[in-house]
Amino acid sequence: MPKIRVGLVGYGKAGQAVANVLSGDTRFDLRWIARRSIMAEPQTHSGIDIPVFGLAQHSFAELFDRDRVDALVDFSSSESIRVYGEEVRKRGIMLLSAISAYSANDLDYARSLGKDSRVLCSPNITMGINFLTVAAKLLRKIAPFADVEILEKHFKEKPEVSGTARKIAEALEIGQENITSLRLGGIVGHHEVIFGFPHQTVRLIHDSIRREAFGTGAAFVLEQLAKCDRGFYTFDDLLLSLIRTELLAAPE
Ligand SMILES: NC(=O)c1ccc[n+]([C@@H]2O[C@H](COP(=O)([O-])OP(=O)(O)OC[C@H]3O[C@@H](n4cnc5c(N)ncnc54)[C@H](OP(=O)(O)O)[C@@H]3O)[C@@H](O)[C@H]2O)c1
Repeated sequence: MPKIRVGLVGYGKAGQAVANVLSGDTRFDLRWIARRSIMAEPQTHSGIDIPVFGLAQHSFAELFDRDRVDALVDFSSSESIRVYGEEVRKRGIMLLSAISAYSANDLDYARSLGKDSRVLCSPNITMGINFLTVAAKLLRKIAPFADVEILEKHFKEKPEVSGTARKIAEALEIGQENITSLRLGGIVGHHEVIFGFPHQTVRLIHDSIRREAFGTGAAFVLEQLAKCDRGFYTFDDLLLSLIRTELLAAPE
């Protein structure tokens, strides 16, 4: 299999961790990284030969022309998609956007790019949280009579209720009042879905350890998306298709 050539936009806390994972994975060839800042000096990722460009000085068209990529991975901000969108469409470049908070308009625009390219948007890109959500939805369907509560724990300074916890609540069709938040110490991210049955309790737990988990998720998506037709996908679509294949392959 030829390597998937990747361009990455966004080189902040998440983007740097994603660059660490993709640049160390033999399935991918991370060609370049773009960020918003004006760069006084040429920069490379962690001293490896991966150039980091400032979008104030270089357009996406120029970056795509300079060094062709098969996929663009977005860990920047919600505005970027309007900047690179038409180039992605024109060139049929695969797009993985991990932006957590798109407006309904931006999401519609991302969806429209799926007519010409393979596009996946995922507000949570970790395999673990996506798997936990699918498993919790399944149990909720099988046992609608069980009580369901969500517990989320994060570092002391996090002011708001976890967006991931709110998304899990939506997926399970339970109210936001069923989310309990604890703020203590330096916890990176803990999400727990608790099912209370009359005589037993089931807990589905996910703990984030390092931001590199975003890179592992991005790598999974890129590999799966490369096998898909043009269209707009969610992480759920990829996961459910794999689960379906596994279940059908299982002996009865
Ligand atoms: N889906 C997920 O699971 C997941 C996980 C983590 C983060 N995210 C999302 O990823 C994004 C970045 O998060 P973060 O924590 O890494 O934030 P961050 O540390 O603030 O970094 C943001 C990065 O994006 C760049 N950037 C911002 N606006 C840009 C624009 N218009 N064009 C090009 N580059 C731009 C910044 O460039 P400069 O460095 O030059 O300022 C910076 O490198 C957020 O949208 C966040 O919601 C999603």
